Amino acid sequence: MRILIKHVLASTEPKDSLSVKGWVRTRRDSKGFSFLELNDGSCLANLQVIVDEGTPGSENITHYATGTSLALEGKLVPSPAQGQKWEMRASRVELLGLADATYPLQKKGHSAEFMRTIAHLRPRSNLYGSVFRMRSKLAYAVHQFFQERDFVYVHTPIITASDCEGAGEMFRVTTLKGNVDEKPETDFFGKRTYLTVSGQLEGETFACALSNIYTFGPTFRAENSNTARHAAEFWMIEPEMAFCDLQGDMDVAESFIKAMAKYAQEHCAEDLALFAKFVDKGLAERLKFVVERPFVRVTYTEAIDILRKSGHAFEFPVEYGLNLQSEHERFLTEQHFKSPVTVYNYPREIKPFYMRLNEDGKTVTAMDVLVPGIGEVIGGAQREERLDQLLENMRFHKLKPEDYWWYVDLRKYGTVPHAGFGLGFERLLMFLTGVGNIRDVIPFARTPGSADF
Ligand code: 4AD
Ligand code: MG
Repeated sequence: MRILIKHVLASTEPKDSLSVKGWVRTRRDSKGFSFLELNDGSCLANLQVIVDEGTPGSENITHYATGTSLALEGKLVPSPAQGQKWEMRASRVELLGLADATYPLQKKGHSAEFMRTIAHLRPRSNLYGSVFRMRSKLAYAVHQFFQERDFVYVHTPIITASDCEGAGEMFRVTTLKGNVDEKPETDFFGKRTYLTVSGQLEGETFACALSNIYTFGPTFRAENSNTARHAAEFWMIEPEMAFCDLQGDMDVAESFIKAMAKYAQEHCAEDLALFAKFVDKGLAERLKFVVERPFVRVTYTEAIDILRKSGHAFEFPVEYGLNLQSEHERFLTEQHFKSPVTVYNYPREIKPFYMRLNEDGKTVTAMDVLVPGIGEVIGGAQREERLDQLLENMRFHKLKPEDYWWYVDLRKYGTVPHAGFGLGFERLLMFLTGVGNIRDVIPFARTPGSADF
């Protein structure tokens, strides 16, 4: 039975018989034997294998170059070499698939840009193997966090007719040919449909039945911004909580990010050590800070004040009523507070219709969590639960209540205060790995002009 290299390397005793499979990372030949470094992706570390001359199946070993796949049998013995506890002595070698000199991952140190052109092979490299193992672990941690707190996982639709964020950045879904706007009623769904930008509105309906819910799925935005933190397809986690206000929402958001950082520390140590060495020297310290220290909270008005008084020359103007740009967010969290910051109570003009209007009549119960290196990772709000006010908000944002009749119904039938937020999973991964571009933490990036693989 084949054993994963991760388990082989964690052995507490030698083994007389062992079977492993994987890809050759390097091979060195000496007089009378060859050294192989074998990796199967189960962990960062390779298994060193010694193949003596004359070992069955090793006749052509000098052709087994980097990238070749092999099945090996042998025994596990203590290694005399530095830095590794075990090595394997092969008793049989079986070639599964050769890789020749055109295999693109010959040497270490390729640029991130080059690696994106070989996204089908990059998970075989150390860095991307670590990124995608960690992505898997954290997806599991997300479910664990919410399941332990009695949140119900809801699968909200991917095809939708409603624009949750009201930003109009939606991909059209249609089977029509030619002018797709001529007769939308003849389209597949009998109306205009899009890929969802958020599962929130549907999530709210379930929270107003099951109390605490969360979604975790793909989300699509047709915003044409070619930045290091925007993708056209990304994964979002959206909890929604009935009987919860803005304070409660900010508390859950903060404990969620802290729990993810702690999970990474406890379950991804080997991969984190690689990021700390090659990607972000300050990573370990940052995670510790995030886990241990409370986040700062300021209102939008206070944030604008701080930015104006900073004397810092920003590219975009700082003015009450304007959206915070990435440079403003990063100034607050990296330079001013040197900590994650939750900004709340934004002007209603720059936020969607579903947010609750505050007593002042000017601001809404929005909150964004900003983190160093990234800016916004979470956007959320307490929702407008008052029927009259929701209808007024819709008029204010020029939306038709009949398009959202089922959403309005929630306010008609047993309405309750409720709140929630959305966390961009890739932005969280960037924060926890130090990897600086969203294209490098998602297996196959979809960005303007690029949908390869
Ligand atoms: O702030 P956003 O637009 O909020 C919503 O969609 C709400 N409906 C969420 C809710 O309250 N349930 O998006 C939430 C998060 C952002 O903070 C960001 O982390 C991520 O989603 N995000 C993106 N990530 C990658 N690429 C993009 N183009 C993203 N747009 C948003
Ligand atoms: Mg936002």
